[in-house]
Amino acid sequence: MRLSDVHGLAPLALAVILAIAFVPQAKAQETSSQSIERRVNEILRQMTLEEKVGQLNLVSHGPPLRWEDISEGKAGALLNFNSAPDVARAQALARQSRLKIPPLFGLDVLHGFRTQFPLPLGEAAAFSPRVSRLASEWAAKEAAYVGVNWTFAPMADLSRDSRWGRIVEGFGEDPYLGSVLTAARVEGFRQGGLAAAAKHFAGYGAPQGGRDYDTTYIPRAEMYDTYLPPFRAAVEAGSASFMAAFNALNGEPSTANPWLLTDILRKQWGFDGFVTSDWVGIGELINHGIAVDGAEAARKAILAGVDMDMMGLLYIKHLPDEVRAGRVPESVIDESVRRVLRTKFRMGLFDRPDMDPSRSDSAFPNPESRQMARAVARETFVLLQNRGDVLPVPASARSIAVIGPLADAPHDQMGPHAARGHKEDSVTVLEGIRRRAQGTGITVRHAPACDLFCRDTSGLPAALDAAKQSDFVIAVFGEPQELSGEAASRAHLELNGKQIDVLEELAKTGKPVALILLGGRPQVLGSVAERVPAILMAWYPGTEAGPALADVLFGDVSPSGKLPLTWPRATGQLPFYYNRLPTGRPTKPENRFTLQYIDEAITPLYPFGWGLSYTQFAYADAAMAQKQLDQGQVLEVSVSVKNTGAREGQEVVQLYTRDPVASRSRPLRELKAFEKIALKPGETKRVTLRVPVESLGFHLDDGTYLVEAGAIQVFVGGSSLAEPIGEAEITKTFRIPPMERRASASTSIAQ
Ligand code: BGC
Repeated sequence: MRLSDVHGLAPLALAVILAIAFVPQAKAQETSSQSIERRVNEILRQMTLEEKVGQLNLVSHGPPLRWEDISEGKAGALLNFNSAPDVARAQALARQSRLKIPPLFGLDVLHGFRTQFPLPLGEAAAFSPRVSRLASEWAAKEAAYVGVNWTFAPMADLSRDSRWGRIVEGFGEDPYLGSVLTAARVEGFRQGGLAAAAKHFAGYGAPQGGRDYDTTYIPRAEMYDTYLPPFRAAVEAGSASFMAAFNALNGEPSTANPWLLTDILRKQWGFDGFVTSDWVGIGELINHGIAVDGAEAARKAILAGVDMDMMGLLYIKHLPDEVRAGRVPESVIDESVRRVLRTKFRMGLFDRPDMDPSRSDSAFPNPESRQMARAVARETFVLLQNRGDVLPVPASARSIAVIGPLADAPHDQMGPHAARGHKEDSVTVLEGIRRRAQGTGITVRHAPACDLFCRDTSGLPAALDAAKQSDFVIAVFGEPQELSGEAASRAHLELNGKQIDVLEELAKTGKPVALILLGGRPQVLGSVAERVPAILMAWYPGTEAGPALADVLFGDVSPSGKLPLTWPRATGQLPFYYNRLPTGRPTKPENRFTLQYIDEAITPLYPFGWGLSYTQFAYADAAMAQKQLDQGQVLEVSVSVKNTGAREGQEVVQLYTRDPVASRSRPLRELKAFEKIALKPGETKRVTLRVPVESLGFHLDDGTYLVEAGAIQVFVGGSSLAEPIGEAEITKTFRIPPMERRASASTSIAQ
């Protein structure tokens, strides 16, 4: 039935029709989940203890996997299988096993499979769930095409510390943005044919000193308010699975943490999928100092709620004996197996034909995937500064010097975790500029100036010559991909090697210089921010880096990305984030005994939410639909945004709130809603942003959620420096105990 067909019907008749239309569907749904449970239990009844534990064993392609493990029912899940012939071979072996249970095929598919899309942190800069959904769907489609059915993504770890290399895999520092984008990614992966594994549960993004794998201390109220919401959004969006984190949280390793894995995830959030460990994470419980040997590690992990052992081989080795010795109840194993089988049924694995081994990922990139990757990438570039409107490249420029080692770095532009990415598929920045310049009479010169890590600057004189002979300089520098991602913590975030010297020299030529920065995190720019007028953060843009950057550099498209994290002036400012608590001594520049550094500004170089366009936007007539808010109500804030410049552009309209007086200190600002809009020159749009009153509260350490009566300040604008527009009044305090909050959870990520 289409909605138009029901117009004009009396309300009662309409209600009856709707009831008739929807009841059978609800019933069918009920029946399908009941039938899944029945089929799961049927299989479970036939399983030996060893076969059960086999379903909990996740093994990688290559050693130690023996292919016969699959036909013997000892490897219920496989990872790093990324080609159709291998998948088909494993499926055929699974069919030879006694119970013929199809395996899961897991892989890190984060931002593309063969076609590379921007890294998740860059994708987050698009501030667009639509873009995130699209990119994830494409990544999934290509992976699913060759038989991958499960991705170890999205990473839902919030991080406020760019020293941590894995910040590139997430969405940055904000729990609201993180929740919206994590949900979009889960949905996108599912639409494209992959079950998600939200990772790394939890607190992994806040390691001390930014050191990957190091320990994390986060008060429980802060876990609930800041670090857990994106994971909860993953559950609500239907993430099939979770991955436990490597780190210890407040002294309890996440891989054996019943509070996280059972109390929060299962009891409070009602998650009924399964949890895998991270790579050998169970064995690492011995290093964490909470298990004496593999048997104890396996026991602690399964009892805490880790259902699957990734690459540890400890479950398969020890759990049968642990059960026989009475240290692990068989019902615990049954429950874990139930979760795995339920997920396999939900994914339809039992009812699917096996993979066609003739399929190959060389079907990609195809023209459509390239077009998508290009469209996504150009939404993610953040124009950090553009003094004197240096960008876009003016039509008068007849020659361009493209300088820098990352201008022609087909491997590095793909970024870390590039799945089956081939550098041969990449269109480099240089190539993109050359293609764009072709036929326009613009001469393009290229000189790298230094090696990839910019230690050897013997190429500098040639680069300076190229710059001097040209009307415009595009410098492409930043972090080679090896400096970003897992196990790439950095203690010095300055542009690595001699990049600052090279950029200083380029600036001295007096030519207009635009710096394109590649990298997986904000880098400390030092004097470059003063010396180079235009800086565009391009993250790792992926396969179509060149065409996407050319679109923006030449002004065919205005940049529209916004920073998903605070950009520091110095490494020593980290951890650094906009939604911090007030202090008793707010900064007063003339008073040393207030919040400040004696050797650096207290402000970031660029704030959260920041990003310029080639056009300008004026905000006017902000208004709140209602100023009194009762439980269950939604604050509606409208504002008119006008494109006052001469070019088309997109703006991310952002709404922040502050609770200025509460029973505990509340952040100075918190993002609560945003919307990305496109405006033609001179065009005005009225944007309405909605904030459920339920999202204006905070947690206590016991998980109780509290929305207190009182004034809430509201700010609207194009960054976290948004202007105040007034106050809304919450009329009465309400408390929601952790278990009850489950029912109302979806309102917290309404977007
Ligand atoms: C990472 C995970 C990843 C896994 C499998 C681990 O080292 O921490 O994020 O999914 O490897 O590749």
